[in-house]
Amino acid sequence: MTSNTPQPVTFKPSGPLTGKISVPGDKSISHRALILSALAVGKSRITGLLEGEDVLATAAAMRAMGARIEKKDEVWTVHGVGVGGLIQPAVALDMGNSGTSTRLLMGLVASHGISATFVGDASLSKRPMGRVIDPLSEMGADIQARATSDYKSCLPLTVRGICPAIPIEYRLPVASAQVKSAILLAGLNTPGITRIIEPVLTRDHSETMLKGFGADINVETDAEGCRIISLTGEAELKPQKIKVPGDPSSAAFMVVAALIIPGSDIIVENVGINPTRAGLFEVLQDMGGDIRFRKKRTVGGEPVADIHVRHSSLSGIDIAADIAPSMIDEFPILFIAAAMAEGTTTTRGLHELRVKESDRLSQMAKGLEALGVELTEKDDGLIIHGSGGKPLAGGRTRPVIETALDHRIAMSFAVAGLMTKSGLTIDDIAPVQTSFPGFQNLMAELSS
Ligand code: S3P
Repeated sequence: MTSNTPQPVTFKPSGPLTGKISVPGDKSISHRALILSALAVGKSRITGLLEGEDVLATAAAMRAMGARIEKKDEVWTVHGVGVGGLIQPAVALDMGNSGTSTRLLMGLVASHGISATFVGDASLSKRPMGRVIDPLSEMGADIQARATSDYKSCLPLTVRGICPAIPIEYRLPVASAQVKSAILLAGLNTPGITRIIEPVLTRDHSETMLKGFGADINVETDAEGCRIISLTGEAELKPQKIKVPGDPSSAAFMVVAALIIPGSDIIVENVGINPTRAGLFEVLQDMGGDIRFRKKRTVGGEPVADIHVRHSSLSGIDIAADIAPSMIDEFPILFIAAAMAEGTTTTRGLHELRVKESDRLSQMAKGLEALGVELTEKDDGLIIHGSGGKPLAGGRTRPVIETALDHRIAMSFAVAGLMTKSGLTIDDIAPVQTSFPGFQNLMAELSS
């Protein structure tokens, strides 16, 4: 896990970025690949798995609950225990910084006859867990969590699962793929039909992968445009061979860096472009970004492409709230693009950004202000007045940016640093390990 001693790093102005790179595997798909493989009967093989701390936390937890997980060369092998076959972990499950591991695995434990205690780092321990506790309690699980001054239910918490659990029909009150996936995972070991009503579409990897593993899952759209997801338990999952595509949320940093640094021309190979994840690329194209998708193909049920990006003069735009779920993790880096654009970019409907690894609206506003960017912080978004391509940050002292244990804040400002007058310092680079090991090396490769 991330060491407690902060590791400050300075990012300085850079020449053009050029070359071809590929980014590590998709974080969301990697978590699900490990979890579903561990629930299948038999041996699954995974290539391209993201080896970031978040995903390794999921792997460790699945091992603690009985799955054998090994890595040889580039292949991860998971010997699944079968749905219903998890064993009681002997120690607390350390989720590190990972909200996805926590919420998905809470769902898994909820319908098994075991109990598990979940602990995490300072950032994760501040995040609200009520959104998964509510539906899982309706299914019969008993969950005891710590109250904080901000939320009723935070980590550490203990889930006492129940078997058999009660199938529920649940309308998602927040647009959250983690909540949807927690209920689906609980539904796997629950006899009967677990049904989720999703008014706003969120990333659909769980549904696609569950189908691939042979679960009886059905997705339809009702007259009001809500997605209705029905899963019949108890499921029997068949082992799979999974190829994890590159993470669009990681590619996003390279894409924006190439757009804002004059003379840049790069290709990011093998990136997932599932429409439930690709909102940022659409928005950047609307801002005038020269982004092209080459060699479009399907890998393991997911659309994939090589992304060709060239430096572009960006213009500020008004971003509608309804695109937010398809780029929810990309707003920090979008705000950097907006800071470099000509004119004003307005965002709204982003309350969820306040409950991510940090309060991303406030952390981004603070960092951008330190770089001399003019902006207004609203309750649900930022309004940013761009520099029109001029380098950021004046003054004689180099700004120090607070990353608040948030990998995406750290990487966003690392990219901003490349377009400053004389550089900026990130107060701690360690959080990058949660989702993007090798980030600095890849950036260096593009600028050499
Ligand atoms: C994720 C869902 C999103 C996203 C997170 C990964 C997932 O969270 O922010 O990084 O893999 O299901 P929410 O469900 O809270 O929107």
